[in-house]
Amino acid sequence: MKRITKKTINKLLTEARNAREFSYAPYSNFHVGAAVMTRSGMIFRGCNIENSSYGLTICAERAAIFNALSSGVKDIVAIAISCNDKKICTPCGACRQVIYEFSEDCLIIIDRKGGYIIKNIRELLPLGFGI
Ligand code: THU
Repeated sequence: MKRITKKTINKLLTEARNAREFSYAPYSNFHVGAAVMTRSGMIFRGCNIENSSYGLTICAERAAIFNALSSGVKDIVAIAISCNDKKICTPCGACRQVIYEFSEDCLIIIDRKGGYIIKNIRELLPLGFGI
């Protein structure tokens, strides 16, 4: 697994928690924030944005990744995810595939009470699809 300092992990978790404040989730009440970090240390945030037509909802992870991509940045190395629930929020299947598209070795930092869990995308999406 790629090395990442505790300081960087904590910074990314703080950004994900802050992004969560902007979550628009009136239907599920499940608020999620995410923050991606690029190889050069830039951080892009995202939150889940729901819609009354439920299927149009976008997860925080994809919002953060698309935010980075929209600024011309693709070299993502890590993503932190934080939710308002007592349980942890692991990325959904669709987000795992999108993470893998842009970072086949991405570190996934999952916020939880009193700490975090860290995984590689390869563990969360074994044999990920790519062309
Ligand atoms: N959600 C995320 O933002 N990220 C995930 O990894 C799982 C689910 C959002 C989508 C929806 O707005 C709410 O959480 C409940 O599913």
